[in-house]
Amino acid sequence: MLSVTPWQISTAGFRITCLTVAEAPGPFFLEQQSNPPQSPPGSLAVTRPMPSWDADLYLKFANQRTQPAIDLISRISLPHPGRIIDLGCGPGNSTAMLHQRWPAADIIGLDSSREMISVASQAYPDWTWVEGDIASWAAAIPFDLVFSNAALQWVANHAEVIPLLLEQVSPQGALAIQMPAHFQSPVHQLLLEIAKDPAWHHSMQDAINAIAVGRPSFYYDILQPHTSKIDLWETEYIHIMDGPLAILDWIRGTGLRPFLEALESEEQKSCFEQLLLSGLTTAYPRQKDGHVLFPFRRLFIVAYR
Ligand SMILES: C[S@@+](CC[C@H](N)C(=O)[O-])C[C@H]1O[C@@H](n2cnc3c(N)ncnc32)[C@H](O)[C@@H]1O
Repeated sequence: MLSVTPWQISTAGFRITCLTVAEAPGPFFLEQQSNPPQSPPGSLAVTRPMPSWDADLYLKFANQRTQPAIDLISRISLPHPGRIIDLGCGPGNSTAMLHQRWPAADIIGLDSSREMISVASQAYPDWTWVEGDIASWAAAIPFDLVFSNAALQWVANHAEVIPLLLEQVSPQGALAIQMPAHFQSPVHQLLLEIAKDPAWHHSMQDAINAIAVGRPSFYYDILQPHTSKIDLWETEYIHIMDGPLAILDWIRGTGLRPFLEALESEEQKSCFEQLLLSGLTTAYPRQKDGHVLFPFRRLFIVAYR
């Protein structure tokens, strides 16, 4: 007879049991019931806790994470922007792509994470790096391109913040943004389901609200009155991963961080991760060659003044 730790979850969509490590035969299991709940559309939270960042973990999938920045840059119709800022520049991977496209431009990377800024400035010591918060940032002199790849989903109150970012753009310049739009995906739904566990749900509200992105129609309405032209599109990248553990590693570098940081003990963190891994194993089956396909949808916006 297996004894079960307090982490026994039974929700409308999944039944998950977290067994003690010593007693569990295979670590954990997840059963999907017939009517999994539909997630609410990504609503915009008011408070956003900022997790700490680990640049090495983030850069483990550097090529896959940088590809959307490359795709966004390739769609920006500005011949020679003189001044560019990369908001939420992280370890400098997106900033490097901006330098590659516009080598003569004056480019600044801004990020609220000291660790990320430190890694960026070590990798590219000749470029300008600034520690700062996007939410309160304003330009002393307007920028020809205000760029942000995979960062604004961490910033609250898009209805106010994003039009303010457009105000920092010079006439004939552009605001270019990419954010994840994967909130219906199995991995995100699993995070929300596991966060409902009575053992920890009381401390999970901030984590649940940590990332939110609206629908394209929301961004069109808040930007269109202030733009001469706006391009919006979504792309679903199909990342080819070694297995479910690689997907767990991927989100350890981003979306999982606020959930783990909300947990008190290492035991709880380990349990949360193992529940997630079990769910990922079911939700992302292996291909014939053993790889796992990890679809990841992203929203792109380019708004011209
Ligand atoms: C997922 S990384 C993106 C890094 C890089 N732009 C890229 O394309 O891969 C998100 C970055 O946004 C930063 N970030 C999140 N919220 C921020 C805020 N309010 N102000 C400044 N930076 C923020 C984080 O510190 C992190 O480095």
